[in-house]
Amino acid sequence: MCGIVGYIGKKDVTPVLIEGLKKLEYRGYDSAGVAILNNGKIDVVKAKGRLSVLESKLKTVHMAGSIGIGHTRWATHGEPNDVNSHPHMSYNEKIAVVHNGIIENYMQIKEFLMGKGYVFKSETDTEVIAHLIEYNYKGNLIEAVMATLCDVEGAYALGVVCTDSPDTFIAARKDSPLIIGLGKGENFIASDIPAILEHTRDIYILEDKEVVSITADKVEIFNLLGEKMDREVFHVDWDVASAEKGGYEHFMMKEMFEEPSVIKATISPRIQNDEISFDKFGLTDEMIKSCEKINIVACGTAYHAGVIAKYALEKMARVPVEVDVASEFRYRDPMVNEKQITIVISQSGETLDTLMALREAKKKGSRILGIVNVVGSSIAREADDVIYTWAGPEIAVASTKAYNTQLAALYLVALYFARKRGHLDDEAYQSYVQELQELPRQVDEVLPKKETIQKFASDHFNAKSVFFIGRSLDYALCMEGSLKLKEISYIHSEAYAGGELKHGTIALIEQGTLVICPLTQESLFDKMVSNIREVKARGAVVLAIAPENHAEEVSKVADAVISIPQMNPLFAPAVAVTPLQLFAYYVSVLKGNDVDKPRNLAKSVTVE
Ligand code: G6P
Repeated sequence: MCGIVGYIGKKDVTPVLIEGLKKLEYRGYDSAGVAILNNGKIDVVKAKGRLSVLESKLKTVHMAGSIGIGHTRWATHGEPNDVNSHPHMSYNEKIAVVHNGIIENYMQIKEFLMGKGYVFKSETDTEVIAHLIEYNYKGNLIEAVMATLCDVEGAYALGVVCTDSPDTFIAARKDSPLIIGLGKGENFIASDIPAILEHTRDIYILEDKEVVSITADKVEIFNLLGEKMDREVFHVDWDVASAEKGGYEHFMMKEMFEEPSVIKATISPRIQNDEISFDKFGLTDEMIKSCEKINIVACGTAYHAGVIAKYALEKMARVPVEVDVASEFRYRDPMVNEKQITIVISQSGETLDTLMALREAKKKGSRILGIVNVVGSSIAREADDVIYTWAGPEIAVASTKAYNTQLAALYLVALYFARKRGHLDDEAYQSYVQELQELPRQVDEVLPKKETIQKFASDHFNAKSVFFIGRSLDYALCMEGSLKLKEISYIHSEAYAGGELKHGTIALIEQGTLVICPLTQESLFDKMVSNIREVKARGAVVLAIAPENHAEEVSKVADAVISIPQMNPLFAPAVAVTPLQLFAYYVSVLKGNDVDKPRNLAKSVTVE
């Protein structure tokens, strides 16, 4: 959601900004722009639409310079158009600003500035920052930015250039991600690492309410009081190839094919001699034993992984678990205390609602365990303990491999807690640990079924509405299958608990309605077969996902069956999700949609 790139050095800045912004396209955007400082003035070019539109526009103007800022905008305040795109200029056109986040008190600031004679061009919240910096400017840019940030409420990652500072630009952050890339004779800012990886692997991760002065040779970090902050250099150890398509048509397909290896990378290092252990884990046995309740908070796909974890934790560790959508949790004054542990799940580690839910739980005394993919992200830094999912960079907006690795990490946690709480004997524990290590192979067996899934998708990609029906963990899995389909195919779909069918949904089933049913829960198998019969009797077309030992039986009632290996039902969602992801993928491709960058969606939701 919004991407920022900034550069100072000797290179021609425009290509650096554009190439960097291309690497941030996955975040989601609807317009883009750049501001370049040259010969005492700032040139700004902005365009609604894809970066290619901006590139075409840039070909028609001469832009030279070695200091500049660029932005991809995901509209919040004001529709996507050229005027509302960033960068935004101050009234005197000496200062340009790019911003990610939302300035919550922008109306008050706007009124104040209008009272002082400032004229606004856009409908954005961001424009107030440009004008307020101008208002606060007394000859020192960083002081003007600091003064401005003391007055704004909300979230921001900022890049600021000023005609009076041809050798320095300013960056700042609070609750929105921003990193500083450290080069030789050049420096960068970016919303995420892939944007600068071809130039440098050394970065500074900014903390909240920090402001940075950046020249070609020097980076200085300050807090809002103007005190200098020390920072260690963070060395990125993954390479550019991990953030590229590697021969696949779409990132989403590449990322699904990475599932076996990333699940393995998440599980293997945590199992030594058949015992689960976590690196730098501060949760003591006593804390785990005395834990009275676990809260799980997350958004989107990560939330769906949390719903699966509830079943696994309650069954194995016998501890009550409440799962919440982070945006609900943070505002409902949740009953959290120091005897509870809160698990916060996030691929990006930057989702604003999830970060705020973490702070709410922490404030109330709960210990925080983060399940996070991005090392050094805000959630990873603020959690008391972190278990990283080693999924590598996930670029497609629709999350796939991150989900499997979140499940893998959560299964490890459930087993670890079960063991510490004395609810699993040696034999059961060993058998679960062994089964968990089978997951990569099992997903590997499912991936080659893509042609069958593609064929089924080609028969149904024109569906108007799709229902996903399952029981127990399969119901949680259905939520994720349905979300995947919605996100990239734009087909209306809903997930329902099989047992709820008769309480409403069945009224919507008619001739030809597509119903997708996972049947991985052995103990509920017969009940789901009955549900399939009920929808079939009303004309539904049924695609079932079933373990191979049941595939034949299911094929007698369903129209098509994708089999998955026979396995422990608790772990089955981590494997059965892959056919659902593949189905959504092929429907999206067949509909001609932009699979990796679906409309209106952003990979990293850094505003409320
Ligand atoms: C957005 C993304 C989803 C993701 C959700 C939570 O909606 O498009 O793919 O599941 O945010 O993101 P997080 O980074 O916190 O897991």
